[in-house]
Amino acid sequence: MSESLSGRTPRDAKHVLVAGITSRLGRSVALELLRRGHRVRGLSRKSPTDLPSSVELVSADCLRAEPTEACDGVTHVFSCVGASVQPDLRLGRASFPRFDLPANLSLLRAAEAAGAQHFTYVSVAGAEHTRHLAYVDAHERVAEAVQRSTLASCIVRPTGFFSALEAMLPMAKRGVVPLMGNGEAVTNPIADEDLAIVCADGIEGGFSEREVGGPETLSRRRIAELAFEAWDKAPRTPALPVFFTKLSGYLLRPVNPRVADLMHFYAHVMTHDCVAQSAGQRSLANHFRAKAQATTKALPAASQS
Ligand SMILES: NC(=O)c1ccc[n+]([C@@H]2O[C@H](COP(=O)([O-])OP(=O)(O)OC[C@H]3O[C@@H](n4cnc5c(N)ncnc54)[C@H](OP(=O)(O)O)[C@@H]3O)[C@@H](O)[C@H]2O)c1
Repeated sequence: MSESLSGRTPRDAKHVLVAGITSRLGRSVALELLRRGHRVRGLSRKSPTDLPSSVELVSADCLRAEPTEACDGVTHVFSCVGASVQPDLRLGRASFPRFDLPANLSLLRAAEAAGAQHFTYVSVAGAEHTRHLAYVDAHERVAEAVQRSTLASCIVRPTGFFSALEAMLPMAKRGVVPLMGNGEAVTNPIADEDLAIVCADGIEGGFSEREVGGPETLSRRRIAELAFEAWDKAPRTPALPVFFTKLSGYLLRPVNPRVADLMHFYAHVMTHDCVAQSAGQRSLANHFRAKAQATTKALPAASQS
């Protein structure tokens, strides 16, 4: 039997559907699986162009119909499908229970019907203590459905991704990053690429449930300061009262339930420690600095075109 470059034989190589392939995490998981010699199919509503040609792409909206075709023939499904965690009103209105739950149940039903063997889902760290938050509860309801299904399962519960914290960089460049509360709560955010390695281990059957974060535990204030340091700017981090964030959540609910869910989630995580078992090597300071430098380099090129 022939061997792939990874040393994996076609017999132990898995055929994995990566649902949410356009996200930084989905893309990183796909690349990690390819590196390990697995076959990858990617699912999203859009058509990403920045993936190796060996990734077979399927365009499907899990909320419109069960993605039957996308699941056909795969042995494993990985899902990081979900509504955006950015508090931008333009990025969708549906709340997490009305988006993440039906989209992932639809994918799970399609995976079961297609005869897949294993389903990996990305929930949220600290879920055990935060089920009262709609954002967390929606993820955990998916996790429970995955664990009840006929498929073998893996649930990964990460802390915040570096890709989500990048939203602080433009704010720091403009000069102010508001903090909710006193900024003293700590967490250990994880690089999407490091999380992808953990997810690939889960897909390969290495564990069935794991809470995971990055190698550095930082206060919320320190995370904001790192965003300023990436631009060599002095930090300005005024404290917003937490009740203001909660109030904006209540006021926003009729306008945008997704952002309202996020406001309640932020009000909690910004004021409570969330530290998970550490994985990976990547540092947030280096990540922020590399992003800031890439933005600075890209600007003159863009302004010439
Ligand atoms: N970011 C964090 O810090 C963090 C921390 C803990 C847990 N999580 C959870 O981890 C998961 C991934 O987070 P992320 O920040 O990487 O999310 P993201 O960048 O918003 O990516 C979500 C992915 O889901 C896809 N998608 C959305 N709706 C879909 C639909 N109806 N049908 C098919 N695909 C759909 C999107 O693709 P298209 O838009 O191209 O279709 C995208 O690839 C989410 O469940 C999130 O809540 C995130």
